[in-house]
Amino acid sequence: MGVKEEVEKRRTFGIISHPDAGKTTLTEKLLLFGGAIQSAGAVKNNKIKKSATSDFMEIEKQRGISVATSVMAFNYGGKQINILDTPGHKDFAEDTFRTLTAVDSVILVVDVASGVEAQTERLMEVCRMRKTPVIIFVNKMDREGKESFDLLDELEDKLEIKVRPLTWPIGMGDRFKGVYNLYEQNLNLFAGNKTGISSDVVPISDLADSQLEEMIGDEAAEELREEVEMIEGVYDPFDRESYLAGDVAPVFFGSAMNNFGVKELLDAFCRISPSPRGRETDVRMVEPADPKFSGFVFKIHANLDPKHRDRIAFLRVVSGVFERNTFYNHIRLDKKMKFPNPTSFMAQDKSVIDAAYPGDVIGLYDSGNFKIGDTLSQGEKFMFKGIPNFSPELFMELENQDPLKSKQLDKGIRQLMDEGVAQMFIQQPGSRKIIGTVGQLQFEVINYRLEHEYGAKCRFVPRNYTKACWITTDNDDQLTAFKRAKTNNVAVDKDDNLVFLAETSFLLTMAEQDYPDITFHQTSEFLLEA
Ligand code: G4P
Repeated sequence: MGVKEEVEKRRTFGIISHPDAGKTTLTEKLLLFGGAIQSAGAVKNNKIKKSATSDFMEIEKQRGISVATSVMAFNYGGKQINILDTPGHKDFAEDTFRTLTAVDSVILVVDVASGVEAQTERLMEVCRMRKTPVIIFVNKMDREGKESFDLLDELEDKLEIKVRPLTWPIGMGDRFKGVYNLYEQNLNLFAGNKTGISSDVVPISDLADSQLEEMIGDEAAEELREEVEMIEGVYDPFDRESYLAGDVAPVFFGSAMNNFGVKELLDAFCRISPSPRGRETDVRMVEPADPKFSGFVFKIHANLDPKHRDRIAFLRVVSGVFERNTFYNHIRLDKKMKFPNPTSFMAQDKSVIDAAYPGDVIGLYDSGNFKIGDTLSQGEKFMFKGIPNFSPELFMELENQDPLKSKQLDKGIRQLMDEGVAQMFIQQPGSRKIIGTVGQLQFEVINYRLEHEYGAKCRFVPRNYTKACWITTDNDDQLTAFKRAKTNNVAVDKDDNLVFLAETSFLLTMAEQDYPDITFHQTSEFLLEA
């Protein structure tokens, strides 16, 4: 098979959701369809459990296990599907944001009862920013939840994207009878607690046919007809181009736990989702069809074993063919490197591979050469744009507790930041190090790892910032005045970009008003446009 065909058949995507909406369950059902696992429970056991939130060692252990399921590949319907796992745990949201840079599309799972929740909104913001095509799966239809039209309105409203149902539920909870596939015009009847992979799909070419009454009863039949008419009246016909442009999200209804509506989702996914896309670099756009290999690192996973400071860098192949034991350029370090043991992640199984194609994600063993965002290429000098930083929510100042170990502390903290465990902002005077995270857990992780891996001791002193904004301006005088007035709030990030650390949203708004020529960016994404 040629490279073009290999690229064509790949689909690399991520499943995102607010915790508990059913991401793990859905992932598992997709893997069952793909024959990648034989029984339910295989993925579930790797999930970071809610009960472990207060015990980060336990979480790290589970994260260790979950490396194996970071990427799950399987074949279905002639496609090679790569699912990139995204941690549902809120404290690892940054991990999820970065993983979203390595996918070509997303399936968003929403709980029919809870609707759109906070974390879903944030994740969706990232998708919108990157114009990632999104399919929405409304889960738990076997339970009572929000009325379907209301839910669609809520999705449009809160996720700021147009929606287009492609299946439609018949009732919900105890009255849930199945889904009508608007696209293929057939009915999938719900038999309750179905665990196998069979389905009772009945073709219905004409909803007016009285066989509908026979199958779902008079009341449900009438309701379905009315609702379908309404859908066709209210929503534009599904347009794949609009979906691919990230303007419209097709919506499916089902119950992951009961394996219901999942096949419709997967079949439609294979039909409409994009094959691997190109990525922008600081020099040019790189397309999957470019003959020479290139790729970027979007995630680094460190082993906790202090004796082996090995890390695994996850690299997404963007163009050409990655080959084992071949020299490639590490652009940032201007260094040639080859990899004897690159691994692929066919579900559950890590195995050494000889070649990888655009859309694939491979694991590279690393002893400290990689940072998140690094580019590897076959000669040409460019860096992929693409891994923005987002504002952390918790800020603490790092204090050295052992003056004799300050070198170790510096090295350790730098490496942990390279891995993306947290973000560091340096504040003058005194080069104070402010560490920003999205969850309390990261501070414990940093503390523990600095001590056990680098022999350094630190303490965290809370700082009452709540937001970091990257700032840019053409007005140098205003910037000088701003820096003078806000000494305690201005810092630089790892790449020396200026950052404003705000105590409250109110103070941020005030700063925006007082310094109209300064632009305050919520993420460092603007750097990618430069
Ligand atoms: P997450 O990865 O998004 O956090 O969610 P996960 O799949 O773990 O699902 C969260 C809970 O919702 C689980 O229950 C799961 O069984 C349940 N669930 C998933 N899909 C459906 C569905 O279609 N219908 C119903 N009724 N429930 C569903 P749990 O009690 O937390 O875990 P477990 O004891 O079932 O493993």
